[in-house]
Amino acid sequence: MSSNHLENHQSTTSAPTPAVDVVIMAAGKGTRMKSRLPKVLQQLAHKPLLQHVLATAEQLHARSAVVITGHEAVQVEAALSHLPSALPLKFVRQEPQLGTGHAVQQAVPALEDDGVVVVLSGDVPLTQADTLHALIALCAGQHVALLTLDMPDPTGYGRIERNGDAVRAIVEHKDATPAQKALTEIYSGIMAVPARLLKAWLARLDNKNAQGEYYLTDIVKFAVQDGVRVLAHTITDAVQVAGINSPVQLAELERAYQHRLALALMEQGVRLKDPARLDVRGVLACAADVEIDINCIFEGRVSLGEGVKIGANCVIANCSIAAGAVIHPFTHIDGEKLGVAVGTDARVGPFARLRPGAQLGADVHIGNFVEVKNSILAKGAKANHLAYLGDATVGERVNYGAGSITANYDGANKHRTVIEADVHIGSNCVLVAPVTIGAGGTVGAGSTITKSTEAGALSVARGKQVSIANYQRPAKKPKD
Ligand code: UD1
Ligand code: CA
Repeated sequence: MSSNHLENHQSTTSAPTPAVDVVIMAAGKGTRMKSRLPKVLQQLAHKPLLQHVLATAEQLHARSAVVITGHEAVQVEAALSHLPSALPLKFVRQEPQLGTGHAVQQAVPALEDDGVVVVLSGDVPLTQADTLHALIALCAGQHVALLTLDMPDPTGYGRIERNGDAVRAIVEHKDATPAQKALTEIYSGIMAVPARLLKAWLARLDNKNAQGEYYLTDIVKFAVQDGVRVLAHTITDAVQVAGINSPVQLAELERAYQHRLALALMEQGVRLKDPARLDVRGVLACAADVEIDINCIFEGRVSLGEGVKIGANCVIANCSIAAGAVIHPFTHIDGEKLGVAVGTDARVGPFARLRPGAQLGADVHIGNFVEVKNSILAKGAKANHLAYLGDATVGERVNYGAGSITANYDGANKHRTVIEADVHIGSNCVLVAPVTIGAGGTVGAGSTITKSTEAGALSVARGKQVSIANYQRPAKKPKD
């Protein structure tokens, strides 16, 4: 490796580093997934496999990505066109699918001559950018660089035949002699090749082999014939080159991905009660001293401030939780597009539900079976039991009683409820919006409030209690 780096250095001081163009093979059928959804659109951590590959390509600062589609091409292309991507995407079709070499042949018209082509597969989602950077450096704009791996059981893979440091050939499993089958170094399916050379070699491929396919791996043979060096960058982390062909493999890679993420969080100082029982399906940003109990799922963008504690079995999506807040077990938060904000030192749950637009100030308490949607709760407001706050503005220190609800929907339109500071709403009240409860006011238990109330007033809106002394309940008549 060190001698390659030297050469590298010498060749790149005079010439500028070549641009990188990524080719992603995504035409295969994926029969073993037994799914209507094309394999490359199956989800890992809530993102299509292909999106993981594209994200890696973006990290390479690639000039372009050429995606080769075939099976369910229309669906795959449509799904990708909807994704946000900093990378210019080109699609080429491969119909029928006659092998990996034939696949890359279809990309030739979309590739510039002056770049380095990095070949990836749409069903290999967890390759790391630094691995590919090393591969590109090894290619150095002039060699063929192959990503390889030692496998205890190499069955099915292309074997690397070496001649010292240099690679002599890749032999496909089905074409291999017993001696070649005994080789354990395999080709991962990922390579970096100067575009100009790749194009020339692709034009020379044939399908005279055991599978009757055009093998991309045959370019190694041509490179050797033409005196171009073929080098291998060997890694030990099999997860980075693992492809997905079945639901079992998809689940295995999901766990591998989650494990990698959990380790990274712990390295930052996050305390996970059990790294095997955490799922992050998006981006989770954590400040210092965050604690997360078991079986929590984080989706979309979630940020947790310093000292935040998340209890067991919470599902939290698109939400920012400020320092010192505690989310008790079994709480469900989903901010969707509007987001949810939980203020400093707030307490939420157990069994609470925060929906889009819930904005809780500092020291707010939301208790069990309380639902909050599109509502702003100022500092110190409390709704501790069995309540609904929808489209409400709630002032500081308000106490919102058990079983109370805002009736925010008249069957056609939504209306706002304003509860000013220091109001006390008794239990089991209905606040029929639009309505304002004046500051410091009290609403008696069981009231249905349809008109706004004055500051400081006690408002009671329910049938008056009547008590009849010595009341005799009806008795059962004797049977005939
Ligand atoms: C290929 C390599 C093999 C390597 C292995 C690593 C060849 C000839 N062999 O094996 O050396 O060890 O990958 O996994 O390249 N695809 C197309 N069009 C096609 C054929 C395949 O787009 O006509 C796509 C598939 O969808 C897949 C990728 O290319 O994403 C690799 O194809 P696959 O059949 O899995 O690889 P192998 O040929 O088995
Ligand atoms: Ca194949």
